Amino acid sequence: MDRVIIFDTTLRDGEQSPGCSMNHDEKLRMAALLDQMGVDVIEAGFPIASKGDWEAVKAIAGTVKNATVAGLCRAKRGDIESAAEALAPAKSRRIHTFLSTSPLHMKHKLQMEPEAVLDAIRDSVTLARQFTDDVEWSAEDGSRTENDFLCRAVETAIAAGATTINIPDTVGYALPADYAAKFTLLLNKVPNIDKAILSVHCHNDLGLAVANSLAGVMAGARQIECTINGIGERAGNAALEEIVMAMRTRADSLPYKNNIDTTMITKLSHALSDITGFSVQPNKAIVGANAFAHESGIHQDGMLKNAQTYEIMTPESVGLNKSELVLGKHSGRHAFRARLEQLGFDLGDNALQDAFVRFKDLADQKKSVNDDDLIALVGPDAPRV
Ligand code: KIV
Ligand code: ZN
Repeated sequence: MDRVIIFDTTLRDGEQSPGCSMNHDEKLRMAALLDQMGVDVIEAGFPIASKGDWEAVKAIAGTVKNATVAGLCRAKRGDIESAAEALAPAKSRRIHTFLSTSPLHMKHKLQMEPEAVLDAIRDSVTLARQFTDDVEWSAEDGSRTENDFLCRAVETAIAAGATTINIPDTVGYALPADYAAKFTLLLNKVPNIDKAILSVHCHNDLGLAVANSLAGVMAGARQIECTINGIGERAGNAALEEIVMAMRTRADSLPYKNNIDTTMITKLSHALSDITGFSVQPNKAIVGANAFAHESGIHQDGMLKNAQTYEIMTPESVGLNKSELVLGKHSGRHAFRARLEQLGFDLGDNALQDAFVRFKDLADQKKSVNDDDLIALVGPDAPRV
């Protein structure tokens, strides 16, 4: 009951973000790292999208050791058969099929009547079940779907054999309380809802993807769909590293277990940035360059006394060696002295005070003061420890 499945879609929804497409070998490299990190499901791609993606899904299916491998399909026979073939080598495979259920999407995108949408859900899930007993069905634009119709659509998918029901916030429109209410509704209203695992899939258009995902889990969902570094369509998907570290750091309020080795987070974040050329913003939670860096004197002083004063998780827990005390104009004498000692200098109180004044002058002119600047500042002949 307290186990949450981590479904990584870096190689499918993540790859769909402009500029993030990966070649065959890059997808295989990421898949191996995701498997090693302990994700439960790797969505390897959208096999019908291109020959290259079909081949990458097949190769991933053939090499992944532990995770279930999933492939995405529209509610179309060709998509489902193509995904089934690509996934065939996997030890454990999942067909993930989806169809829009919101009034806007049904009318303008699908141009289908609601009853025809229900028929297509039934037919696509039934077909997918012929290839595997692990079938996920997603209600695209689920968060903007009218409640009664969402219940009917989910009931239809479960009756046809879906074992996971995903309610995407496709356009990142939901607020945490509204999104949670969708799961409460489904759990209370849909017959046989206990035959399927409910899943969250949130986009970050309002910066709420992680908050919405956690709200969905608190309301009863037990699968989270997410991506490394939060890459994904438009503003991205919920970031895996933020979700997992929120559950680890706030286990008091989020008492859910997962299988992720969090010490691999930094390695995967860097590997993905290298592959895609997408750098991570410095202030990004968990994996940004500043996530464990401190410049202000008050914070540095606290950190030198006890790191818990300004850090809610250890850098080691995400695979970083140590926190960084960055020297800049906000830094104080304690951090300045500590860094000089690490560099091997012991100036004594008066010389240290003089050097500190020169350091502040320099810091006023530079964004940060590095080790070479410090050595030049105290001079190579300054007394050693
Ligand atoms: O955001 C979305 O609705 C999706 C589905 C295809 C699962 O990515
Ligand atoms: Zn999505």
